Amino acid sequence: MNAVGQPISRVDGRLKVTGDARYTADIRLEGIVHAAIVYSTIANGRTVSIDTAAAENAPGVLAVLTHKNMPRMNALPWSHLRPQGQTYLPLQDDQIHYAGQPVALVVAATLDLAAFAGTLLKVEYEARPPVVFDPRTAKEDAIEPSQRMWPLSSSIGDANKAIAGAAVKIEQTYTMPDRHHNPMEPHASLAVWDDNGTLTLYDSTQMVVGTRKLVSLVLGLTDEKINVVCEFLGGGFGGKSWSWPHTLLAALAAKVVNRPVCLPLSRAQMYSMVGHQAATVQTIALGADRDGTLTGIRHDSVNPTSVFDDYVEYAAMASRHLWRASGGIATSHKLVHVNRNSPVVLRAPMEAQGHFALECGMDELAYATGVDPVELRLRNDADTDPYSGRPFSTRALRECLTRGAARFGWDKRTPEPRSMRDGRFIIGQGVAAAIYTHWRWPGKARVTLNRDGSALVEAAAHDIGTGTYTIMTQVAADALGLTPNKLAVRLGDTRLPESHPASGSATTANATAAVMLAAQAAREKAVELALTGRDAPFAGAAANDVTVADGRLALKKTNLSITYAELLARNGLANLVGDGDYNPIEEVSGPKAIFSFSAVFAEVRIDHDLGLVRLNRVVGAYDAGRIINPKTARSQAIGGIIWGTGQALLEQSETDPTSGQFINRNYSGYLVPTNADIPELDVLFVDGFDEEASPLGAKGLGELSAVSVAPAITNAVYHATGTRVRDLPITIEKLL
Ligand code: MOS
Repeated sequence: MNAVGQPISRVDGRLKVTGDARYTADIRLEGIVHAAIVYSTIANGRTVSIDTAAAENAPGVLAVLTHKNMPRMNALPWSHLRPQGQTYLPLQDDQIHYAGQPVALVVAATLDLAAFAGTLLKVEYEARPPVVFDPRTAKEDAIEPSQRMWPLSSSIGDANKAIAGAAVKIEQTYTMPDRHHNPMEPHASLAVWDDNGTLTLYDSTQMVVGTRKLVSLVLGLTDEKINVVCEFLGGGFGGKSWSWPHTLLAALAAKVVNRPVCLPLSRAQMYSMVGHQAATVQTIALGADRDGTLTGIRHDSVNPTSVFDDYVEYAAMASRHLWRASGGIATSHKLVHVNRNSPVVLRAPMEAQGHFALECGMDELAYATGVDPVELRLRNDADTDPYSGRPFSTRALRECLTRGAARFGWDKRTPEPRSMRDGRFIIGQGVAAAIYTHWRWPGKARVTLNRDGSALVEAAAHDIGTGTYTIMTQVAADALGLTPNKLAVRLGDTRLPESHPASGSATTANATAAVMLAAQAAREKAVELALTGRDAPFAGAAANDVTVADGRLALKKTNLSITYAELLARNGLANLVGDGDYNPIEEVSGPKAIFSFSAVFAEVRIDHDLGLVRLNRVVGAYDAGRIINPKTARSQAIGGIIWGTGQALLEQSETDPTSGQFINRNYSGYLVPTNADIPELDVLFVDGFDEEASPLGAKGLGELSAVSVAPAITNAVYHATGTRVRDLPITIEKLL
């Protein structure tokens, strides 16, 4: 029986629930000491003096490092393409550009002693008023950045003309707040140098290979002198896809004190030591015929970034690809530089923000034209990508909309706002569709078939917590003809074959494709041995007449068979190694546009006297190509819906305009959904096989499922109340 397609439980589940899985901050090395960061309370200015005497004399302290005595790092100009979270390097000068910026690092015998000694520092500042982001003036303040990863603006046809001449026009501005990653596991780095000057970094990262590259550039080491290890992650959410100052500080501190140094971030430090999702101010304009057929789309987005980096949140990208518009589509992105740390990707970056404006705009259009919101979307479905003109490889959005609607019971919905009730509650139902970029990145893998009939999969890829260990087990098992319990998987170490970051929901389609290729290569070597090796059991036969199941090779139409174990023993081999090298980069500009799709249906229950919104139920329908493991896929999908629920109803970072600080720096001030907030979540997959997307037929799923939850809920709130909320999250005061 094939392992792929089976709802296999996590192969690392036991390790995790028993506490045997060691996360970065759990690792204990001989002679380990700990480091704590002291950070700036001002957001703009400089340090005038830092009195370290009391901290240096505190119990257990080994070193107090400030910009005066910290070893120098190599500054790098900003580039989206480098794995740097931000360009401004810690403890290199007296300048302060953001609140929460490191001003000192204390190394001590224990973390508590380091943190305590840090409180004894006396820092004198020269403060200037911080520049903070103001959504009300963002559009006037915004500038065109010089650095970009993709084109900042796009124009197909003449969107403005089409909208100006349209029978029905919608133009609205939507705003979303800054959000923070807040995975369960805070970032941590543990650095140790050996006598040969080799640095080993245990780091909570989604990209061991990128971390090695960044650290090698900043510290001036060759790649060979750095190992980066991350076996388990307690979530990453994109914040761990780039390297941040604390990792550089840990590496240099370990050199200074000549001991292993562990530097875990506190929960509060998670708000300034690593990136966040920048607020966006988005204006969407739609033009349509009276029957809802789109004639023009314009989508403009502004986001804040740090004073030193040009981080662009590509929120308007969604509008380039999702719907057809006969007259034209135009998009643009601009920035406002403010005193904060650099923003970064977070949980479906770009799409999760852009769809809020686009898909709420579509709901406004549905009401303006009187066309049912599901029907409106079916009417504007596209079979070629409007931006590139390429046909989609696969696009089961229609099925997502129609099957999702059927599962949800959309036909029982009455369209007028405030028309559905449940006792004293008003009920609202909303829908939103989504398109998500399918990333194609190169990756390598190695599969070793052992003499005992077991096999080992190795790759410098990651399991971010979503089940990569498990699906790689399934894919390799099928390719080798082994049962999954014969497989072991090792990930997260730069000494393994190079792979890509656990980002962009790309690991199944790319890194796992490399695993399949490596397993096929190992199997082919075994088949070759059976045909031509010592005492070859299938001598003279053709390779494609050999089948493998349960670790036994068999020759079709004969009784001949031999196990991998017997075959390796007969040939005096300890193992057979297969290498996989998957490189889809040329296909990025290939003939097909590849995206995954979804439709999200949400029902809310509102106590209108109190403005309280409760989620009743959600149905998510997904086209993510072939589903490798329905159990881990479902877990990803419901996780994404929960993220989207946080985005819709709870998550909101506030900046104090006087100090420039993020104010709510913990789970009690920065709200994320808890079990009590989450009702029954129903997910369905429109199964398919996208051969353009990956040899596995799979497209990206994880982050797709976080997209369009917020607009579905927001549209449901409108249906319930008649109040159109255009500023997330939907808090009580916005409904009273
Ligand atoms: Mo994800 S935000 O692409 O790591």
